[in-house]
Amino acid sequence: MQGKTHDHLELLREMRRRAVLGGGARRIEQQHARGKLTARERLALLLDEGSFQEFGALATHQVSEFGLDQQRFPGDGIVTGFGKVSGRRVAVFAQDFTVLGGSFSAVQAHKISRIQDLALESGIPIIGLNDSGGARIQEGVRSLAAYGEVFVRNVMASGVIPQLSLVLGPCAGGAVYSPALTDFVLMAGDGCMFLTGPDVIKAVTGEQVSAQDLGGADVHGGRSGVAHLVADTEAAGIALAKLLLSYLPQNNNEDPPQIRPEDPAHRMDEALNALIPDDENQPYDMRDAITAIFDRDSFLEVQPAFAPNAVVGFGRLDGYSVGVVANQPACLSGALNIDASDKIARFIRTCDAFNIPIVTFIDCPGFLPGTDQEYGGVIRHGAKIIYAYCEATVPKISVVTRKAMGGAYVAMSSKQMRTDLAFAWPSARIAVMGAEPAVRVLYRDEVRQAADPAQRERELVAEYRERFFNPYRAADVGQIDEVIEPRETRSRLVRALEVLRTKVQLNPPKKHGLSPT
Ligand code: HXC
Repeated sequence: MQGKTHDHLELLREMRRRAVLGGGARRIEQQHARGKLTARERLALLLDEGSFQEFGALATHQVSEFGLDQQRFPGDGIVTGFGKVSGRRVAVFAQDFTVLGGSFSAVQAHKISRIQDLALESGIPIIGLNDSGGARIQEGVRSLAAYGEVFVRNVMASGVIPQLSLVLGPCAGGAVYSPALTDFVLMAGDGCMFLTGPDVIKAVTGEQVSAQDLGGADVHGGRSGVAHLVADTEAAGIALAKLLLSYLPQNNNEDPPQIRPEDPAHRMDEALNALIPDDENQPYDMRDAITAIFDRDSFLEVQPAFAPNAVVGFGRLDGYSVGVVANQPACLSGALNIDASDKIARFIRTCDAFNIPIVTFIDCPGFLPGTDQEYGGVIRHGAKIIYAYCEATVPKISVVTRKAMGGAYVAMSSKQMRTDLAFAWPSARIAVMGAEPAVRVLYRDEVRQAADPAQRERELVAEYRERFFNPYRAADVGQIDEVIEPRETRSRLVRALEVLRTKVQLNPPKKHGLSPT
């Protein structure tokens, strides 16, 4: 009996030793030679030491075609389980490229689904580490169907638990859609995402493009906007995921954790009073305002290289997590366009889903004019911003720093769209349109008939500016709640959020709205 128990234990230990080796020592060497970490090494960086509990380590596929019976590895190319990040519970899965290129199989789908179900039931975030050649070709339709199992769970968990995807190697074919359905995509190291690879593109269009030029971090962090955060190394990407998680709650029924504040809540920043240039057309960097107002070093910009005419990200005020949305006058004068609309709308909905108050800074001349914008559907894209602000029930505060012109005034968290408190700096200019075009419309005849038309136009422009290029008209009619000195913005926001922390607002019951897409 004693001997049998010993044999059983030895067998289990041997199986576990094999599981830890994934595709074997040679494949691990190849992975390292590519400058990549293994699935387990990545998890060790992500999770608190000793916190990982693995499930499904011994699962293998049962497919024999294409010689797959000779290639059965415990775990089947994915490591799944639970652990802790900075003491908070998370569910994790990490694809193991050393096993058949991390290719996606029915077993992988069952293992991920199991973790997704348990994470959703327990109300804890799920983090996926992706490194896969896509659907396992040898498994045929089984591997295609397998994606559906994961996708449906991504969607059911959407807005309930935070879902983070790290792309640390190839993420090809169907593999792209699970990350794309999650809340945040982070790309690092050799991470590369594409639906149809360079070979397919060459065969179909004749175009020759490298994998990195097609779907590397530069492409998805900048042009396509698929990636929310990008890092050079895998270790930096994993550190970024942990940082991002610190701003999010465990689930939609909880608030994000408060970090013990180190920055005085009512700190005044004198430099802010001199931030806005006298010349209304001179740019400044809105991020200077954000970093000065929020808790020191707390601002994490999301999608920094995509649509840089808008700024979104997480910051903290008195240790509480806050979503920041802003126009960026340093790029396209802060005008809104298609990409900026998508970026802002998505971020608002993310904050709203996870009980994160939103502070919006406005300096925007309006929507960017142009045929490419109109043909590209700026109407339906811009509508997403309006939809997202109107729908959001979290505390919302706006601060007009300079221009809030026309559509931008309305779309960017205007009071009528259920913004709780609206502040303006003395430099604010709230008007239907800029002075010159307004005068041309309103006084065309008067200017034409004047003895000196140019002189008359200048006078009328000056009058228009005098009348509208200040925040006091808007404050007069209650569109702005309070005109504040820039230096006191931090203190005002801290106090306002303290009041609004217990805000309760409900939307009418419905199956779901129809957000413009
Ligand atoms: C089975 C795969 C595989 C796959 C890679 N491998 N992808 N095995 N199914 N999808 C295997 C390789 O054969 C190889 O095995 C090992 O993994 C490592 O791959 P390499 O090619 O040597 O690595 P690398 O040079 O780094 O290139 C990685 C890669 C490339 C860019 C991912 O392997 C590739 O292009 N794979 C195919 C990608 C693809 O087209 N996927 C789409 C599948 S269809 P050996 O033993 O030779 O070393 C799909 C549609 C689903 O996903 C749609 C659902 C909505």
